Amino acid sequence: MHCIQNISKNIIWVGGNDRRLERFENMFPIPSGVCYNSFVIIDSETALIDTVDQSISRQFIENIIEALDGRNLDYLVLNHMEPDHCANIEEIVRRYPNIKIVGNKKTFQMISQFYNFDFHMNMHEVKEGDVLCIGEHSLKFFFAPMVHWPEVMFTYEMTEKILFSADAFGSFGALSGNLFSDDTDFECTYAEEARRYYANIVGKYGQQVQAVMKKLSSCEIKMICPLHGPVWRNNLSYILNKYDLWSRYEPEKKSVMLVYASMYGNTENVMNVIANKLAVKGVKDMHMYDVSKTHPSYIISDAWKYSHIIFASPTYNLGLYYGMENLMKELAALQFQNRKVALVGNGSWAPRASKVMEEIACTMKNVEIIGNPIEITSSMKEEQHKAIDEFVDKIIESMK
Ligand code: FEO
Repeated sequence: MHCIQNISKNIIWVGGNDRRLERFENMFPIPSGVCYNSFVIIDSETALIDTVDQSISRQFIENIIEALDGRNLDYLVLNHMEPDHCANIEEIVRRYPNIKIVGNKKTFQMISQFYNFDFHMNMHEVKEGDVLCIGEHSLKFFFAPMVHWPEVMFTYEMTEKILFSADAFGSFGALSGNLFSDDTDFECTYAEEARRYYANIVGKYGQQVQAVMKKLSSCEIKMICPLHGPVWRNNLSYILNKYDLWSRYEPEKKSVMLVYASMYGNTENVMNVIANKLAVKGVKDMHMYDVSKTHPSYIISDAWKYSHIIFASPTYNLGLYYGMENLMKELAALQFQNRKVALVGNGSWAPRASKVMEEIACTMKNVEIIGNPIEITSSMKEEQHKAIDEFVDKIIESMK
């Protein structure tokens, strides 16, 4: 049965939710599910903005049929060709054979890469800044390459001033009926998942996010419709400011995230001692993670949040403990930058951990390593308290 909702008089949400999928992109855990947003615009002509993932195809088709209320579908706008939004292109073309698929050169290249049906009669190629008038509504296309794939574009509906923003401004988490962010307790329900989504999915492309935000700065925007998560119609500056901060790799919080790998608890013990000393000296709201317990996507999300990070790891096979190496290399691959970090290495023989962590940290832009690493030989000893006190003082000094 159809399940649709108007976002304005003639624009209808026809998306859906998936609460069964374990991992987004088969990589990121989504305990609260995910939603796939898609919209139908009813005017002299009709337009569908993006499709959805194959997991909710049946619901999606029922939604479109209901939204169209017997009308034909004239346009399918493809803002993003990742299959979680494009799985239904062929089915849409089969049902509406005269439809025009609106995309850019790279969109059509990707359709032919992913799918095996003839869409050439349906192509409507647009260029940056082109406007498609479908009646009272006009769609203007802003290319947003690498936010998050090269073909991405944003569609700006000029009459109602609605931005269809592809992956940008989205969030993990299924919708619970409330489509608009201001009808949810966003801070409680979606804020952490919006940052985890940004950091892990779009985080590498901060420069490109800045570029498209600059491009859109002259447009008045009354509503933002991302492909995932709630729609923004109030307090747009909240999410716009977050994206500005995150894409400049500026921390949200001046405090310390502590991340450790520990096989038998000795490296963990040192991190507890360090956190204790930081807390006694007034550092508030720290967060500690065990890389073997927490999926890296959550740690990466908090890396985007915190100004300071302490990494601690044992040596493993003359290198770095794999979980820590994976995490740090993932941060480096995401172009993570502009942070202060401190290191704790452990080694029972031939210690290498702090050296390898330093090497990886040095590949990150504008990452400052505070002082010298704390070196532990198997376990922390009483006489090391003084060195750790000095280490903690240096971290606190660097927070001023
Ligand atoms: Fe939700 Fe980049 O796709």
